[in-house]
Amino acid sequence: MTRRLGPDQQGLDEAAAILHSGGLVAMPTETVYGLAANALDSVAVARIFEAKRRPSFDPLIVHLPSADKAFALATSVPAAARLLAATFWPGPLTLVLPRAATIPDIVAAELPTVGLRVPAHPVARQLLERVGIPLAAPSANLFGFVSPTSAAHVLDGLDGRIDALIDGGPCAHGLESTVVAFDGDRPIILRHGAITREQIAALCGDVGEGARVLERPLAPGQLARHYATRTPLRLFDRSDQLPEPAATAALIVVTGPVPDAQHRGNLSARALSPTGSLTQAAAVLFAALREADASGASELRILTCDDSGLGRAINDRLRRAAVRP
Ligand code: TXA
Ligand code: MG
Repeated sequence: MTRRLGPDQQGLDEAAAILHSGGLVAMPTETVYGLAANALDSVAVARIFEAKRRPSFDPLIVHLPSADKAFALATSVPAAARLLAATFWPGPLTLVLPRAATIPDIVAAELPTVGLRVPAHPVARQLLERVGIPLAAPSANLFGFVSPTSAAHVLDGLDGRIDALIDGGPCAHGLESTVVAFDGDRPIILRHGAITREQIAALCGDVGEGARVLERPLAPGQLARHYATRTPLRLFDRSDQLPEPAATAALIVVTGPVPDAQHRGNLSARALSPTGSLTQAAAVLFAALREADASGASELRILTCDDSGLGRAINDRLRRAAVRP
């Protein structure tokens, strides 16, 4: 049984008690829902991998209530990391730093580093303050599937597999945090996310990108196939590439209105942000993918957005979702 908890004092107290006894609690964050466990308890963390059916080579992000508490779990902190933290924490940014010995191997998938994040969501912050231990939390979905941006999405995949869920309503950003490692003092973006490359470059100057800053390739936000829908998904860069509308094909337009009259007539066509706001499109992207996936369509067609700013993170998720096994 998965207990449904409210985002109030009583709910937070119960959640804290479950976490202290090694249990699993799904919590809202400003990006997506996370599946939390005591990051210092290897057995509790092992339960996360089991509940999500997540391969053990995929390291977890550790959540803390403040930058001081986060940096206490790193053996060294480059100046660029301090600057990014001062600017974007609390918020949707994960910093990958050399890990302190207190972080169990299983959290870091035996890498010498750990991903640290101070979330901004008030419920996540209150829980972190209340519980007083670092919380390891991946997105609260079965491994490889679309990340959950509401309590109902969490239950879709994990009902009965986790101890409790705090319902904090829909997530504001709808895209996971940006994951940044460091090569000396140079930030390297490992996963695009809610904080854009442009925002990081404005602060730190030179920014790299890549999945291989350490001695081995870094896992799964980086796996080719991830964020998968069950229904096959086809991506189109331009509206004039879209095939004729078909009753069995759902169309999702990321930014701007549904292109022309013939597609507008298609009841299963949906514009995520008719006014063209990337922020708005990101916030509803995962929910729209889930809905279209459940609609009975035999194909999902997606008109992608420009590859800049938040558009880079949106297109990244869509490309990975489109890869068929
Ligand atoms: O917004 C988010 O980041 C959400 C919320 C719950 O905080 N969490 C999330 O976790 O998306 P997850 O486990 O689904 O994705 C974590 C990503 C993975 O791509 C993982 O490979 C990367 O962060 N990561 C974690 N620790 C790392 C490390 N030490 N080195 C490199 N990559 C790391
Ligand atoms: Mg995930």
